[in-house]
Amino acid sequence: MQSEPQRQRSARRGSRPPAPKLVQTSLPSIDDVAATIWRGLTADSATIPARFLYDELGSRLFDAITALPEYYPTRTEAAIFAEHLPALARLAPVQGCTLIDLGAGSCEKAPRLFPFVHPRQYVAVDISVDHLRTALERLQIEHPDIEMLGVGTDFSTRLELPAAVRRERRLFFYPGSSIGNFEPHAAVTFLAGLRAAMEPDGALWIGVDLQKSVDVLVRAYDDELGVTAAFNRNALRHVNALLGTDFAPGDWRHVARYDRRHQRIEMHLEAGHEVTARCPLGERTFQRGERIHTESSYKHTPEGFRDLLARAGLRVVGHHTDDEQWFGIFVAVPAASS
Ligand code: AVI
Repeated sequence: MQSEPQRQRSARRGSRPPAPKLVQTSLPSIDDVAATIWRGLTADSATIPARFLYDELGSRLFDAITALPEYYPTRTEAAIFAEHLPALARLAPVQGCTLIDLGAGSCEKAPRLFPFVHPRQYVAVDISVDHLRTALERLQIEHPDIEMLGVGTDFSTRLELPAAVRRERRLFFYPGSSIGNFEPHAAVTFLAGLRAAMEPDGALWIGVDLQKSVDVLVRAYDDELGVTAAFNRNALRHVNALLGTDFAPGDWRHVARYDRRHQRIEMHLEAGHEVTARCPLGERTFQRGERIHTESSYKHTPEGFRDLLARAGLRVVGHHTDDEQWFGIFVAVPAASS
């Protein structure tokens, strides 16, 4: 439904706003996905890659996590944007940009940037275009002058942008601190991929969770209501659906611990008793107390993160934090343009 001013704008043009364009790149086959998960589950130290935390229920549980009092990153990042958006927009040339929103989901965060960066094109990227369709149709009506494009691709493994994405002034927007879920070497590879996809006039805005007291960190990943525990255990339901395994989530305890050496929160699932998981690919027995590592969430220092960006060929031109310096939004440009 269009609001009155939107309806009048469309009527003045004498046409309906164009439908957003949607492009889906190929995704790995179900057999490849199953083989990847099984390899992790049968390793000496078992793992489930963190991306399998996010089936439909997992995504809803993650949304619930962001509303928990203990989970500070989402509201802290939102407060920094609310206070510093105009200043962030002055750190690198962004007017008329091609705004590329990585992990856009329901496209709630990036449109708040529109009045400050005035994008010519908004490119929402997520694993599946189906997640983007409704939000982009709504946005196209609200912003008929911005070209809307949805791209479905697994950008965390390989950034594949279709030719329809404008090359001029690409502004990559990666909020939410998901960069912390990459191993540092993989983060550098990922960031170097963004650098390679930018002309010298490109820029990156990225949200980063910073180091803080272990107590605050552990509570954020082991909340009192048990929402994060449910989010973690749900990975087993997702794996059952993808592999045909017979995990019973209730057999597993949620563990969140801070690893000081690696400066990361780790989430694990710990077997409450001996468990044998079976599926068409084979079987694996877990002893009581044995763990499956499901996620790492690295916590950076501002200097450490600058360094990481530099290794990817990106130069920080500024960053803003909250008063407690719990979270940072960094703006970086290609190092060669300095
Ligand atoms: C998506 N990502 C940034 C979250 C984090 O904080 O590492 C995922 C999460 N895991 C447990 N709680 C939230």
